Amino acid sequence: MSGPQIRVKTRQEISRQRRPRRHQCWDHLITAPLWPLHGANLGTLLRTCDAVGACLAVPRLPWVPEALDRGNTLRRPTCVHWTGGDACRWLHEQRLAGSQIVGVELAEEAIRLADLPAARKRTVAVLGHEQTGIPAEAVDLLDVAVEIPMVGSGASLNVAVAGSLVLYRLAGLI
Ligand SMILES: C[S@@+](CC[C@H](N)C(=O)[O-])C[C@H]1O[C@@H](n2cnc3c(N)ncnc32)[C@H](O)[C@@H]1O
Repeated sequence: MSGPQIRVKTRQEISRQRRPRRHQCWDHLITAPLWPLHGANLGTLLRTCDAVGACLAVPRLPWVPEALDRGNTLRRPTCVHWTGGDACRWLHEQRLAGSQIVGVELAEEAIRLADLPAARKRTVAVLGHEQTGIPAEAVDLLDVAVEIPMVGSGASLNVAVAGSLVLYRLAGLI
């Protein structure tokens, strides 16, 4: 039995479908791992940001610039916003400036990923601490929380996987 004819695209075809240069900073969609722990997750998020045309907002902890450099496997300039040391203060400023704040978190009142609409205004997607999640004082600053349904035995997803899925929805690409 033969299935449909599927031909994998060549590298040239793929690169013709991409932008010739990195996205300009549209400052429209921002993913914010505000309590980062592992450099590898920042690298993964950086790749997703490039794919969907988003920016990354992260505190300038001593190890972060090097982790971003190592994670930038595309070797292109990336769009990184430095948040300063006080995550809640930065989030509060984003709200005052009119951004929608979407918390990516397992939360009682969260909407499911499939119900999350694409971003229609400047949107910040906040990711939690890799062990303890989004702290309570930051939860108070969210406009909405989104949860990615799980049926397995694990308590949660890897933070970069969760952030990538939500970014794709917010960008309207899935
Ligand atoms: C490993 S989880 C944090 C663990 C968990 N919140 C806790 O307190 O034990 C790290 C972050 O990944 C994101 N995350 C992981 N799984 C998720 C899911 N199923 N839905 C939404 N966000 C998720 C959230 O941003 C979360 O704060």
